[in-house]
Amino acid sequence: MAERSLAVVILAAGQGTRMKSALPKVLHRIGGRSLIAHVLDTAAGLSPNSVIAVVRHERERVSEAILEHAPDTVIVDQDEVPGTGRAVEQAIAALPDDFDGSVVVLSGDVPLIDVPTLERLVRGHLDGGRAMTMLSAIFSNPTGLGRILRDADGAVTGIVEEKDATESQRRVTEINGGIYVFARRALQAALAEIDTNNAQGEKYLTDAAARILASGGGVEAVATDDPWLIAGVNDRAQLAEAGRELNARIVREHQRNGVSIQDPATTWIEADVSIGADTEILPGTFLQGATTIAGGASIGPDTTLVDCEVGEGARIRRSEATLAVFGDRVDVGPFAYIRPGTELGVAGKIGAFVETKNAKVGDGSKIPHLSYIGDATIGTGSNVGAGTIVANYDGVNKHQAVIGDAVRIGSKNVLISPVTIEDGTYTAAGTVVRKNVPSGSLALNVAPQRNIEGWVTEHRPGTSTAEAALRAQDVDTPGAANGGN
Ligand code: UD1
Ligand code: CA
Repeated sequence: MAERSLAVVILAAGQGTRMKSALPKVLHRIGGRSLIAHVLDTAAGLSPNSVIAVVRHERERVSEAILEHAPDTVIVDQDEVPGTGRAVEQAIAALPDDFDGSVVVLSGDVPLIDVPTLERLVRGHLDGGRAMTMLSAIFSNPTGLGRILRDADGAVTGIVEEKDATESQRRVTEINGGIYVFARRALQAALAEIDTNNAQGEKYLTDAAARILASGGGVEAVATDDPWLIAGVNDRAQLAEAGRELNARIVREHQRNGVSIQDPATTWIEADVSIGADTEILPGTFLQGATTIAGGASIGPDTTLVDCEVGEGARIRRSEATLAVFGDRVDVGPFAYIRPGTELGVAGKIGAFVETKNAKVGDGSKIPHLSYIGDATIGTGSNVGAGTIVANYDGVNKHQAVIGDAVRIGSKNVLISPVTIEDGTYTAAGTVVRKNVPSGSLALNVAPQRNIEGWVTEHRPGTSTAEAALRAQDVDTPGAANGGN
């Protein structure tokens, strides 16, 4: 096949008034990416010679976002003449004069259009030798959309905007999806002749259909049976609907690839996430950013992972983690709060009500309960007792704690950084570790226990505790709780 030449124009100059937002419409996000980023990705999927984005409203913010996502995009500013026709006219003026190929037109606010659909549209357009091919759909309620007009033989005769349509034209249910392929020369010639004499005083791209037909070019509308492909986002309700549909499609794709997803309605997976086969995702789970999960893992319920890497067979329950790396077969949660820079080695454990940050935890090491571990490294096969806190911050600077291999930190320790606890050591329960602990030692600094007999009855007379003490001590009272054990 001869190499085709193709340019993509993305319309993004509109204001998006109905979003009622300080953020430009095309920068609102679904599936972890802005609307315009979805369209840019789809455009790139066609491997075009160039991608041109037309901007006007909030042009600085919109063009910055476009160039950040797709740096090769050509930005074109629309002038004060309104309308989709004017936008495309100015876009194609930026093409090289000798560019004689096809121009695909997409909207920045129609995020679910996909590459296979556009490929089919372009192929049909080229095979049919046409000058204009648009994607249409049959809508039982076509209100607000442009209608495709056809003659008695079914041949397209034009497109009419709802505001300009007659009663009988409004009854047409085939709508214009706003996604097109044009032959560049025919498009340019048609746009040069289109005026703004219509209900909205705009230069309509849709008027190109009748113009091209009048000059002998072929025009066809190809109906899709998937209305989501052309669904535009104009307000926040439509934004949410498009987001839900995108999520449903992403979830279905993972299911096809062997991932068990119990409840698609409460599982939210962003576009860049990857998941291995035989992993199960339980309800209420959010997988975001560049998260990757290997096979055979179990994630959720009620878990959020942002930019995390999760190993094979890992289990993460009711927890939240950002920028963390979990080795194979780790056990995390319930109710763990894993902050950036956490790395948990193979078969390691971060258990209930544990918070970590910048913590490198070696293979097989465990922090099972109620701890804060920040700015620390822990070797392999160590255990951190319940309630242990790393005091990493002196109010001015953060300091590092180093815990070696096979260390047993007792319950409720405070490890005051900077501190090093060497391989093969114990610390006693309740120790405040202020000094380094050399290999082989037990560290303890808790004062020996002293029991002051009679203190309760003397200082807390009449309390239930004092009464219990008296009962326990009264060996003569029948039924006293002094049963000898
Ligand atoms: C357009 C079509 C309509 C079709 C509908 C499908 C026209 C005249 N009408 O109507 O037939 O059914 O899409 O969704 O094309 N834009 C610019 N510059 C402008 C005006 C718009 O760049 O001057 C951009 C918008 O930002 C948007 C896109 O073009 O991304 C579509 O514009 P919009 O005003 O939403 O057109 P519709 O009225 O929806
Ligand atoms: Ca629209």
